[in-house]
Amino acid sequence: MSLEQILQHRRAIRYYDAQQPISADRVEDCLKLATLAPTSSNMQLWHAHHITDPAVIQQLVPACLGQTTVSTAQQLVVFTVEPSLYKERCQQNIDFQRENIKRTYPQAKWEKYTALQTSYYTKVIPFLYSRFFGLWGGVRKVISTFAGWFRPIPRQMTEGAMDTVLHKSCALVAQTFMLAMSEAGYDTCPIEGFDAHRVKRILGLPCSSEVSLIVSCGIRQPSRPLGDRFRVDFSSQYHRIGE
Ligand SMILES: Cc1cc2nc3c(=O)[nH]c(=O)nc-3n(C[C@H](O)[C@H](O)[C@H](O)COP(=O)(O)O)c2cc1C
Repeated sequence: MSLEQILQHRRAIRYYDAQQPISADRVEDCLKLATLAPTSSNMQLWHAHHITDPAVIQQLVPACLGQTTVSTAQQLVVFTVEPSLYKERCQQNIDFQRENIKRTYPQAKWEKYTALQTSYYTKVIPFLYSRFFGLWGGVRKVISTFAGWFRPIPRQMTEGAMDTVLHKSCALVAQTFMLAMSEAGYDTCPIEGFDAHRVKRILGLPCSSEVSLIVSCGIRQPSRPLGDRFRVDFSSQYHRIGE
């Protein structure tokens, strides 16, 4: 399928065909492809909980407000964001970049580029991702407001804004997954209509995990009409700046 065919094929499916099972390994392969999605500062602070057990899916139905896209799903993927892993990810980025820089650049650049990467992941990222009981976000906001008077600076520094950063990246991962599923001939539906507290309890997820998006998976029921896609007029959303 071309990219356009994949995009046309992907629809939010609310009724899956009970007669057409899908392969858990193929879904896992689509999740592997989703790891190629970009994430902010390459922090990759997401997990995918791939649910193939029908009993667990049925347990999750009430927590997903009884939606048929869940009750008829063959499998589910619960995407979570994992802010508590930021220190581990910083170290992983530093370790990777140390070798990657050697493979990519001439020796004269190694020291400078390694120092830049190390400083980014030992100073900037910990400054942005540390929480200190939710108080540090307020401190960051004050600092960024003052600093912003004198030079351009990213403003998304409060706890809430950092949450958005994490969920933005996770959404890109989920979208990449859904497109990979489409290419495999499988259907999906992104879901945010759920009780995150109950979902976490059913899956035994730690307090630090935040449920970002659930994606139901299966093959669409052919007898259920999908209807046309509604999209607002492109010209009302498109703003070209320049020629
Ligand atoms: C973040 C997000 C949350 C969504 N949550 C739900 C949901 O809880 N239940 C549902 O049936 N569809 C949900 N959808 C699907 C949208 O309703 C659907 O994508 C939209 O109507 C466009 O239809 P299409 O995907 O077939 O083009 C969600 C979509 C997104 C992007």
